[in-house]
Amino acid sequence: MLLHVPDVLDKTQVARIRSALASANWTDGKETVGAQGARVKRNRQLPDASPLRQELGQVVLDALAASPLYFAAALPLRTLPPRFNCYEGGGTYGFHVDGSVMSLASPGGQHAGHLRTDIACTLFLSEPDEYEGGELVVSDTYGEHEVKLPAGDLIVYPASSLHQVQPVTHGARLASFFWVQSMIRDDTRRRLLFDMDVAIQTLTHSGADEKSVLSLTNVYHNLLRQWAET
Ligand code: NI
Repeated sequence: MLLHVPDVLDKTQVARIRSALASANWTDGKETVGAQGARVKRNRQLPDASPLRQELGQVVLDALAASPLYFAAALPLRTLPPRFNCYEGGGTYGFHVDGSVMSLASPGGQHAGHLRTDIACTLFLSEPDEYEGGELVVSDTYGEHEVKLPAGDLIVYPASSLHQVQPVTHGARLASFFWVQSMIRDDTRRRLLFDMDVAIQTLTHSGADEKSVLSLTNVYHNLLRQWAET
């Protein structure tokens, strides 16, 4: 499922993050990928150990926790601490596949288990008219989808997809990105639950019969109970 979650960050939060990133020490984005990714990746990232990454990552995590739409779509179990990247001067990341299992590090930097990457997320931090190119292209069974969103908006997409970031030919594209292990491993089941959740919310707000809504809510939770890994 490809889902646009608008306004995860408001414009003030975006401005604060960008002002912090303006004086950041960036590193080559190749440092966090395997051999296949390294051949096609040309961008800069905040170093994983950077205190700024941890601080800004927490701002992103707090914003996600306050977004019911994000929660309904991702049903997150574990989230890799958000990273930050910058594409400019022709920077690009050609078609690649994300690692399926990633290491989680504790705040002290020690290994703290693994995360299966079910969902990939990009949170845009630059406005679309600030740069040329830089579209995230997600390739799935329905074809290729180009994504370029306003600053503060998030795209949720299956980490199992092939995807790329097109060359940024003018300006700079700042973003945060991260992976999520969902309570629901299967994308189709996650989509069904999301659709049902949205329908229940719509019925609730339209004043539908309370007993029927309760009944549907019960079905939703029983499906979640059947399928959830915790
Ligand atoms: Ni990727």
